[in-house]
Amino acid sequence: MDPAVSISAAHLLCECDATNFATLLWYVALVACGSALTVLWQRWGASVLAKGSSTRWAVGTPRHLDAHHTRVVKGVDSVLIDMDVKHEHIFELAAQVQEADATWSPTTDSGAHASIELIGTGPGDPQLLTVYAVQAINSADLVLADRLTPPAILNLVKCDMHIAKKTKGNAENAQNELNRLGLQALREGRKVVRLKNGDPFMYGRGGEEVIFFRNYGFEAKVIPGISSSLSASMAAGIPVTHRGVANELCIATGQLKLGSDSPALPEYRSSRTTVLLMAVSRLPTMCTDLQKRGYPENTPIAIVENAWRPNQRVITADVQTISSVAKEYSVSSPATIVIGNVVSALSK
Ligand SMILES: C[S@@+](CC[C@H](N)C(=O)[O-])C[C@H]1O[C@@H](n2cnc3c(N)ncnc32)[C@H](O)[C@@H]1O
Repeated sequence: MDPAVSISAAHLLCECDATNFATLLWYVALVACGSALTVLWQRWGASVLAKGSSTRWAVGTPRHLDAHHTRVVKGVDSVLIDMDVKHEHIFELAAQVQEADATWSPTTDSGAHASIELIGTGPGDPQLLTVYAVQAINSADLVLADRLTPPAILNLVKCDMHIAKKTKGNAENAQNELNRLGLQALREGRKVVRLKNGDPFMYGRGGEEVIFFRNYGFEAKVIPGISSSLSASMAAGIPVTHRGVANELCIATGQLKLGSDSPALPEYRSSRTTVLLMAVSRLPTMCTDLQKRGYPENTPIAIVENAWRPNQRVITADVQTISSVAKEYSVSSPATIVIGNVVSALSK
C-alpha cells in the first residue's frame, strides 16, 4: 500500500463525510495498517503543500511531490486527498494558495526560497545592462540563456548556466527545455535567472514564461531591458522620431508563430517610422508587401545587424533595392529593420 495512505487519521477525519462510505472504508484500512505505516510516513516525511489562512491541503508522497515543499500549515479546516495527485495539480494549487496568502511561497525543505526572474539584457553590450540585471546575475544559482545572449554577457555568469540552442526550427524545443530546467531548479529551491534578449515583454515570450511558471506556483519577477526595437536604430545614428520627419513609431514583427500566416505589415504613412524585428529572413517577400501597403520605392531602409555588439553592421538602401543589397552583404539575424525618412534624418 502506498505510504501516503498513512496520512494522519486526524487529518482524514477533517474531511471524512459520514455519508461517504468509500472514505470510511479507507479510514478502516488506514487504522488496520497502524503504526507501521505511520513510521513509514514519518520516515519519508510525506511532503505537504498547504495554505495558511484558508481551507485546502494537497497531500502526497515524496514520490508525488519531490522534497521541496513547505510543511507549514495553520488554520486548515479541510483536507484534499488525492492518491493520484500529480505535480501539475499540486502546483496549480500552490498558485491558488499563493494568491490567497501573499506571504506564502514555495520553499525547500531547508527553508530556502526559490525564485525566478526574467531579466532583460538589452541588445548585447554588457554596459547596457541594468544594475538590477548585474546584481541578479551575480546572486543567481542557475542562469538560463539562449543563443541571442552574446558571449560578453554570458561571461559575467559565475554560477551554473544552461544555454539553449534557440535556432530556427528549434525555438519551441529550446523554450520547453529552458522552462523545464527552470522549473526543476525552482523545485530544488534555487534562485533562477532567465536572461532575455532586449526587453522580456517585447517579442520575447516573457508573458508566456510568466504564465508557465505561475501555473506551477512560482511568480516570475520581470525586469525591463533596453529593447532592440528602440536601441538598434540608435546604434546606427537613426532617431526613431524626429520633429518634422517622423512623429509616430510602429514596431512590428516580420514573423508570427511557426505555421501561422505572415503578419500584415503596417500601412505607409510618410510621418511614421516602422521598425521590424525578426524580419531579415523574409526580406524579399516583405519588400513586395511593403510596396503593396503603399511604401514608395525610394523609402529609405536601414538594416542594423548585431547592434551594440563588436560585429555591428549597418546597411542602408531603399524599399526597392534593400533586398538585393542585404543578399550581397549576407545579412543575418539578429538584425533590426528601420523604415522611413528618419533613416537619413541625421545623415551628413
Ligand atoms: C525574438 S526577438 C526579441 C526582441 C527582444 N526582446 C528585444 O526587445 O530586443 C529577436 C529579434 O530582436 C532583434 N534583435 C535582437 N538583438 C538585436 C541586436 N543586437 N541587433 C539588432 N537586432 C536585434 C532582431 O530583430 C531579432 O530577430
